[in-house]
Amino acid sequence: MIVVGIETSCDETSIGIIDDKRIIVNIVATQEDIHSVYGGVVPELASRSHLQRIDNLFNLALKRSKIKIEDIDLIGVTNQPGLKGSLLVGVSFACGLSYRLKKPIYFINHLNAHLAVNFLNKEIEFPAIGLVISGGHTSFFYIENYISFKKIGRTLDDACGETFDKVGRILGLPFPGGPYIEKNAEKGDENSIKFPIPMLSSDSLDFSFSGLKTAIVYYVRKYGKKNIHDICASFQKVVADFICRKINIALKRYKVNSFLLGGGVSRNMYLQKRIKQVIPDNIKIFIPEKNLCLDNGVMVSVMAYFLFKNNILPDKNIIKVIPTK
Ligand code: KG4
Ligand code: ZN
Repeated sequence: MIVVGIETSCDETSIGIIDDKRIIVNIVATQEDIHSVYGGVVPELASRSHLQRIDNLFNLALKRSKIKIEDIDLIGVTNQPGLKGSLLVGVSFACGLSYRLKKPIYFINHLNAHLAVNFLNKEIEFPAIGLVISGGHTSFFYIENYISFKKIGRTLDDACGETFDKVGRILGLPFPGGPYIEKNAEKGDENSIKFPIPMLSSDSLDFSFSGLKTAIVYYVRKYGKKNIHDICASFQKVVADFICRKINIALKRYKVNSFLLGGGVSRNMYLQKRIKQVIPDNIKIFIPEKNLCLDNGVMVSVMAYFLFKNNILPDKNIIKVIPTK
């Protein structure tokens, strides 16, 4: 079964095509060049760029995958959460495609898709806990089966990746800051600066990163950023301490067989190492390969495929987007 996944929720235009659980193609056009000048994603420019790129990208995906447009059996498209204008481009394109081909369409939740990409080629033992750490979100899910995701925790302010990016900006690093912080941290001493671990007295599954970000602002104001390697390493350590503490709480509260990670920040090898250390041996851990951690079309097609296989009725071909509030 050939499934096309379309992703335009933020600043990546992406088309993925799978044949059942086999990836045929995953084309991602980042807009890093456009937004890096501003140090963050500019919504208006993001949607405009999606609009300019999506046609060519889709044709390129067909060409590379060597499938004909008529071979498509199913369409998945991210319709929430995300930037309104950006979502609209992908959803409008997908609805047009569905109408033209008379093929079913599924509207996909971007966060579920980040976790669902772990379903590729692997049998997951449910129930599972899923954690999405991305540029726009930091959310825990209780996952009962391939199609049932219940949100059990979220960030109350900044998202994890957003915090990496903002700290990167404070330190004068290029956008997005996440990968640059990881690189700089490799040369630093993670115990050199004691930044506060957020929410130490709370046992909720929610997150808060704004206090940590402010602590870095104050530190840099007072001491400057000469020891950038130590700042990055110490910041990254606190993020890992915080996330691992929350994972411990989640795994105590919910008896599960698997732990699924997803989202752009999952690419961070230090965080991966720290997270693996707190997952007990009896819980299987799933982390997407690096290029599938970031926003991509394949993750959307995987979610659509599993909805179809589990007899969920397709959505009506009516343009509907649910942006981030
Ligand atoms: O999942 P994603 O592509 O977009 C959203 O859904 O938001 O994640 C992008 C985020 C950015 O904030 C970026 O800085 C972060 O992922 N990121 C990283 C790393 N690579 C990407 N954060 C920390 N360490 C990394 N190596
Ligand atoms: Zn994402």
